[in-house]
Amino acid sequence: MHVGKRRSWQLSESEAISEGDYWNRRKFLKAVGLGTGSLAGIPNLIGATAGFPTTRNPKYSGEGLDVTDYDLVSGYNNFYEFSYDKDGPAKLANKGWKTEPWTLEVGGLVDNPLKLDVNDLIKRVGGIEQRVYRFRCVEAWSMVIPWDGFQLSKLLQLASPKSGAKFVKFTTFFDPKVAPGQRGGSIDWPYVEALTLAEAMNELTLLATGIFGKPMPNQNGAPIRLVVPWKYGFKSIKSIVRIDLVDTKPVNTWQALQPSEYGFYANVNPKVDHPRWSQGSERVIGGGFFSGRKDTLMFNGYEEQVAGLYDGLDLRRNY
Ligand code: MTE
Repeated sequence: MHVGKRRSWQLSESEAISEGDYWNRRKFLKAVGLGTGSLAGIPNLIGATAGFPTTRNPKYSGEGLDVTDYDLVSGYNNFYEFSYDKDGPAKLANKGWKTEPWTLEVGGLVDNPLKLDVNDLIKRVGGIEQRVYRFRCVEAWSMVIPWDGFQLSKLLQLASPKSGAKFVKFTTFFDPKVAPGQRGGSIDWPYVEALTLAEAMNELTLLATGIFGKPMPNQNGAPIRLVVPWKYGFKSIKSIVRIDLVDTKPVNTWQALQPSEYGFYANVNPKVDHPRWSQGSERVIGGGFFSGRKDTLMFNGYEEQVAGLYDGLDLRRNY
């Protein structure tokens, strides 16, 4: 059974760039006392709490960037396990879904397989820090988010990849009893994503356990999710239970669903349009209905840090 009606891979350009429905529903929720800022009466079963308070890493201080409001970051979400509506996850992911305790397993081509509680893992990697990153969804909207987390490279070093490991595959939880979206639909659950080992080891790639200095809200992918700021948001897989080192390129969820539209690399690239809309500019969430558009940057503004990962690759192709 599908929850809601609009699915991202079926959006037309006008739907992808309009937030009218969202704002109308938000106004309604506010009127009935269920605004996302005050989820009155809804218990917040929040994720991993280790490592707080965090200190902002000066290298990623977000200088010159306008941080999106907490209410929007935690109220305008894509989390298809719960809903296809932007305001659905904030309600449905807080209805009995427990994200603590939570175990993460790391396996496949590693010398040191791991199975750890997320709070223990945070201690093993030496804690968490805060970084402000741009976040750009393939649907042509964007936010600026202060993430709390640690570099994925630290976890991979603990697991010690074998020489044959070339890709890192991530898998989301699967529990249709609490995640209504997983009871059917076009997606072959659980949601999976993958990076090359070099992308995973890049210093920008985070495992995030919080936002705005607080534990990750369920709707944002509690208790632990990936953040890859130079790629479209769908690569930043939420609520991870498994990480596997593998030798062949995995097929990610969106590629399996619509290979003509979504590839493996999915790097933000203003010169390569989505088949149904332009990727040249983006709608800044919270930036105002008419004034909130800005030009999209190559690699979402992280060209300096990541362009070298793609030497020799034709970035116009949908790999
Ligand atoms: N991860 C899972 N497991 N399920 C999802 O539906 N949506 C992706 C990504 N990670 C998704 C997911 C998409 S399309 C986007 S844009 C981001 O999460 C949204 O993250 P946010 O809701 O924290 O902004």
